[in-house]
Amino acid sequence: MIHFIKVSGWALLCAGMCFMGQASAGQTLAAQERPVYLDPEKPVEERVEDALGRMTLEEKIKIIHAQSKFSSGGVPRLGIPEVWTTDGPHGIRPEVLWDEWDQAGWTNDSCVAFPALTCLAATWNTELAHLYGKSIGEEATYRGKDMLLGPGVNIYRTPLNGRNFEYIGEDPYLAAEMAVPYIQGVQENGVAACVKHFALNNHEVNRHNTNVIVDERTLHEIYLPAFKAAVQKGHAWAIMGAYNLYRNQHCCHNSFLLNDILKEDWNFDGAVVSDWGGTHDTDEAIRNGLDMEFGTGTDGLRSGARNAYDSYHLAFPYLEKIRSGEVGTEELDDKVRRVLRLMFRTSMNPYRGFGSFCSEAHYSAARQIGDEGIVLLKNEGGLLPLDLDNAGKILVVGENAIKMMTVGGGSSSLKVQREISPLDGIRERAGKDVEVVYARGYVGDPSGEYNGVTTGQNLQEDRSAEELIAEAVEMAKDADCVIFIGGLNKSWKQDCENSDRASLGLPYGQDDVIEALAAVNPRLVVVNISGNAVAMPWIDKVPAVLQAWFIGSEAGHSIADVLSGDVNPSGKLPFTFPARLEDCPAHLLGDYCGKSAKDTVDIEYKEGIYVGYRWTDRQKNIKPLFPFGHGLSYTSFAYGNPVVDSSSMTADGTVTVSVDVTNTGSREGKEVVQLYISDRKSSLPRPVKELKGFRKISLVPGETKTVSFTISADALSFYDPQKHGWEAEPGKFDAIIASSSADIRGKVSFVLQ
Ligand code: GLC
Repeated sequence: MIHFIKVSGWALLCAGMCFMGQASAGQTLAAQERPVYLDPEKPVEERVEDALGRMTLEEKIKIIHAQSKFSSGGVPRLGIPEVWTTDGPHGIRPEVLWDEWDQAGWTNDSCVAFPALTCLAATWNTELAHLYGKSIGEEATYRGKDMLLGPGVNIYRTPLNGRNFEYIGEDPYLAAEMAVPYIQGVQENGVAACVKHFALNNHEVNRHNTNVIVDERTLHEIYLPAFKAAVQKGHAWAIMGAYNLYRNQHCCHNSFLLNDILKEDWNFDGAVVSDWGGTHDTDEAIRNGLDMEFGTGTDGLRSGARNAYDSYHLAFPYLEKIRSGEVGTEELDDKVRRVLRLMFRTSMNPYRGFGSFCSEAHYSAARQIGDEGIVLLKNEGGLLPLDLDNAGKILVVGENAIKMMTVGGGSSSLKVQREISPLDGIRERAGKDVEVVYARGYVGDPSGEYNGVTTGQNLQEDRSAEELIAEAVEMAKDADCVIFIGGLNKSWKQDCENSDRASLGLPYGQDDVIEALAAVNPRLVVVNISGNAVAMPWIDKVPAVLQAWFIGSEAGHSIADVLSGDVNPSGKLPFTFPARLEDCPAHLLGDYCGKSAKDTVDIEYKEGIYVGYRWTDRQKNIKPLFPFGHGLSYTSFAYGNPVVDSSSMTADGTVTVSVDVTNTGSREGKEVVQLYISDRKSSLPRPVKELKGFRKISLVPGETKTVSFTISADALSFYDPQKHGWEAEPGKFDAIIASSSADIRGKVSFVLQ
């Protein structure tokens, strides 16, 4: 029985006032008055369905495509906010104008540039990967961004690819293991990671019209694992489609990759975002799994035309097809659910915190990643570490010692609050009695501008190459040591988006400078700054070589940390350094990127699964300059004999392989213990060995730690294209313990029943 109690207006008013009186200022609607989609206490799926049920057709269309260069629409009527995306994987891109790539000219958007992802990869440190994601996620949150357009996880198939510096190397297991914690760190901030570029975007030439031909096994064993881990372990909330085609269909609306693999097989519940300008067909965009269309070529708002964003495939054209009855709304509702889910995880998640920006914690994280990512490739005679406290006179040579590297390279270009150059870092670290002098050595790219961000540097140089070499040589003659800092520089064709390098060699005549310096001063260190392997024809004349990456804001500090020995290098190469380009299968077996053409260019990945060390391991007469997983230390490590806890395992069981590692040197150091699995006998050809585990450990002199790896059947499996699935065949396997793919420290075998 419901009793209706007649209450006078006054009484209601008093009650209302009383209620409001109890509410503290600014308290929002009482929970019971809040609609479900606005109630953060309600399960996301309930909120999704409630919001979906309230939206009109036009409002649904509005949220599945861009409204500006980097944002997509919200639903003002329902208080559902817009979605703001930002590049890139290394830092938060500065604000651009509404429909432009060029700068908006804000003065509060200078960020921290974290190291390029190849540097993170080279740390082989999953804790740092999480710290990286957490830190960049905090910068994104503070800047009001809901989606970070990164990380990039495309496999390093050729050392010429202009965007390898944004990715995580040649091995799918390493890429997967390092991407997952980065994604988790980003998303803990309530910011979506948008993992890119799905899939097979492994070079930049003809990137919009390359149709990749690759066999099913290679697709699953090499090119998909990092994305699969990002979805199934990282629970990425967004995936970005690649520009290229696969099976003659653009990846941004590729039914096999997006509907069958990503959404069906992997149960991806997030949003598929197009790459900017990667959407080419309305019907495919509707049916093939694209959820958010960005960057489609429009005439912008400049020409005063009806809002150009209405001409997007998933805008008016889609709306017209629905209104005419040509298509239903089933696909639309799926897209809208995914975008709403993204919103409730990010912009409409009131618990996501407020982030932080340009904090010392972020600079410290960037420096730590740089410190642990630098790889000591060679150190003959212990030339390194240098005694920067009493070194007398140090000559630093090379444009990369002074040139800002955070501007340029494509969409990952940044406007930084600060960037420590290698020369500044060395000068800052050198003792007061140490003289640090500088010579240009060569001229690379004196420009310093990208999308309207300028470095402010004047690198103009009128002297000839001969004069510059002569000056450096003269100064090298009476220096106690010489540090050459060169490499690539993110200029066009020198590790830059939308372009690939033309050769493996160093540009700008750097080899001549290095040879000339080596001829007059044996105490020569070469610091190569790049995101790719480079040829080193002078390697036998140079006692010490460091592989430094595009390290970002803390570059100079990290390079000086390692040169001085303040930090003991512990980086390991995430990709093979081939001695020659033709040692690389993508180049030996056929044209890695096809021929330039106006329409689709087919390129076949003829090497199949034999990418990187998987290839060199099978070649009798090819030896890499430096192998995958290689990296030296200022101390030394001894490995005991690996032991296995059982000589056999069942298909659903595991075996544990353990090994003792001792620091046999005189200073603390970190070592990356690598586990490779070798299948003695298989029904399909397999690589000699494959990386299936790694552990970074820190040891003080004399200390021994036991490292254990638990191996399950999935580490033994290969993809069987006949069965369209993974298979671990019974038989004998070797667990190989190594300090690099070419430095085997022990092996133990076991049988899979
Ligand atoms: C670019 C890149 C992509 C980037 C996007 C937005 O062309 O391919 O990685 O996130 O467009 O700048």
